[in-house]
Amino acid sequence: MNRHELLARLHEDLQPRTYLETGINTGRSLSLSRASSVGIDPEFSITEEVQADVHLARTSSDEFFARRRPLAHLPVPVVDLAFVDGMHLAEYALRDVVAVERFTSATSVLVIDDVLPRKVVMANRKRSTTRWTGDVYKATAALRTLRPDLVVVEIDTQPTGTCVLMLPDAARGGVLPGYDDWVATTAVLPDPQDVPAEVLQRTRAMAPEEFLAAVDWTRWRRARQQGEGLAGARTLLEDLIRKNDELTSRVAPGA
Ligand SMILES: C[S@@+](CC[C@H](N)C(=O)[O-])C[C@H]1O[C@@H](n2cnc3c(N)ncnc32)[C@H](O)[C@@H]1O
Repeated sequence: MNRHELLARLHEDLQPRTYLETGINTGRSLSLSRASSVGIDPEFSITEEVQADVHLARTSSDEFFARRRPLAHLPVPVVDLAFVDGMHLAEYALRDVVAVERFTSATSVLVIDDVLPRKVVMANRKRSTTRWTGDVYKATAALRTLRPDLVVVEIDTQPTGTCVLMLPDAARGGVLPGYDDWVATTAVLPDPQDVPAEVLQRTRAMAPEEFLAAVDWTRWRRARQQGEGLAGARTLLEDLIRKNDELTSRVAPGA
């Protein structure tokens, strides 16, 4: 399954009221949305047929989220589904996640693209390959360390892997303690990056079909309608959390 097929399934299963995407480019992933949407990209050039009611913001995600009421276009100021696919550098991806989280409910789902490079050179911070992930993979590790309350699931999608985040907490107010230290010590490092074997070999990544089957989406949608909080939403993810914990404790052979 590729990243767009996973996104299409999430649109189908979640039936989000609202959708937000950072990095829209030609509108390929945006075209999957039928929800009220926001697309942010300083250099988009839409060539796809987009059927959603969408606010297109030709700007960087940092500038967009610094606005007073960035989601004024949406019928509710809550993002049910988000796709983070803007600048392929770890600190940008992490900032996008933290910024979107301010506008989530317990049942919102965030997806980050490009977290599983196949080769070290693809993960260079300075682009030198056609298919470029940058070092976005570091954002997954940072979230696992700095936000152990989040459910962080790496998904083995083609071509470059995705990460699904569940149980976001808007009450954190867009603040991530430890972010500055992480940028200085871990994110902004000279190429080549020290990409873990578990990332390159995808040993901790869940098959997309397994992820989709591990959540009862009918109950998840009902939980959203009922305004379920984090504790209640977590009880619906027991199966997913158990499977993910098994995967994340794995060590790659030869690592
Ligand atoms: C890989 S493309 C997005 C592809 C698209 N999501 C899809 O799947 O069809 C990445 C996009 O991120 C945009 N981008 C770069 N820096 C950005 C930033 N700071 N904020 C938002 N978008 C950014 C680029 O202009 C580019 O169009």
